[in-house]
Amino acid sequence: MIAVGVLVSGVGTNLQAILDACRAGRIDARVAIVVSNLPGVRALDRARAAGVATVVVDPLAFPDREAFETELVRVLKSSGVELVCLAGFMRLLSPRFLRAFPSRVINIHPALLPAFPGLHGPGQALAYGVKVAGCTVHFVDEGTDTGPVILQAAVPVQAGDDEPALAARILVQEHRLYPRAIDLIARGRVGVEGRRVRIEGAADATGALVNPALDG
Ligand code: GRF
Repeated sequence: MIAVGVLVSGVGTNLQAILDACRAGRIDARVAIVVSNLPGVRALDRARAAGVATVVVDPLAFPDREAFETELVRVLKSSGVELVCLAGFMRLLSPRFLRAFPSRVINIHPALLPAFPGLHGPGQALAYGVKVAGCTVHFVDEGTDTGPVILQAAVPVQAGDDEPALAARILVQEHRLYPRAIDLIARGRVGVEGRRVRIEGAADATGALVNPALDG
């Protein structure tokens, strides 16, 4: 069972989905620690309610990013974390942090990357006028939402959508996709060859496109 550290900054609905999947035994993982860069966020309450250890690592308490990240790494390693999951974590991580967990830092983004990286993915998708939106779980590299894609899920854009409506439809799929990606990594079924991620045992040999509307 893989030990997961979840990094949060906010509401924590993806964290909740991961906690629920672990508790139900649906994934081969346990959340060892939840780390927030902000005190008082709802995600910390969710972790405590699930009996999971929490830590706030406030960047303002450190002289620079290097010192902040050194502490992040120390906290995660001392909890035995093998896989770092960013779940609404609003800080960019440096190559130095990523080197501490090679190919073991993943993120969920509310758009079909490489379209609409950065903030407000659903809003960007609406403004562009796309007909299909979705979410992506990807490995984190030094760019913003640029790392190799692990899984994606698509949702339709509907005529009356505003940003909150589309974001909510995408979020439902995020909550399915993120635990699934964690489980695949935990079971050693995810391989990376350059930018291409292979999912062993997946019907199409890549598993890169998952359409939850089709897989029940
Ligand atoms: C999600 O939309 C996720 O895709 C993005 O940040 C949001 C976090 O939401 N990275 P929550 O805190 O998990 O509810």
